[in-house]
Amino acid sequence: MKAFWTSMIALLALLLSVYAAAADNVGDLKQGETIIREHCNSCHQTGNAGKSGTGGAPSFAAIAQMESTTILSIRVFLRTAHINKTMPNVMLSEDEVDAVASYILSLRK
Ligand code: HEC
Repeated sequence: MKAFWTSMIALLALLLSVYAAAADNVGDLKQGETIIREHCNSCHQTGNAGKSGTGGAPSFAAIAQMESTTILSIRVFLRTAHINKTMPNVMLSEDEVDAVASYILSLRK
């Protein structure tokens, strides 16, 4: 069962990378900002790089600064289940994920 999920996640990551290659940076920033204000700001602060929000959630500015953060990494993160972690599983459409990912990356300095 574990192997099944591991391969499903690998398949998902592959599909996402094909999709990402076809359309990078396509998210609507305004839509991303609205989604984040409504669903994410209770835990993640937007500004204040370095400062964390509620429950140790990193600020989006800090996430944007991390070298490992890309549109793809955010997509994969938001589309995979977080087991034993404090970040809840958020249900967003593909467009919404793109919008959120683009907005987070727009905070990179
Ligand atoms: C209940 C609090 C909470 C809410 C609401 C929440 N998060 Fe998180 N998030 C966390 C915590 C805590 C972490 C760090 C631990 C982890 O990685 O699971 C995290 C981590 C992340 C990361 C990964 C950073 C990394 O290490 O790569 C991203 C991206 C993220 N959140 C995006 C979002 C988005 C987008 C939303 C809104 C749709 C959201 N979060 C809503 C608590 C929350």
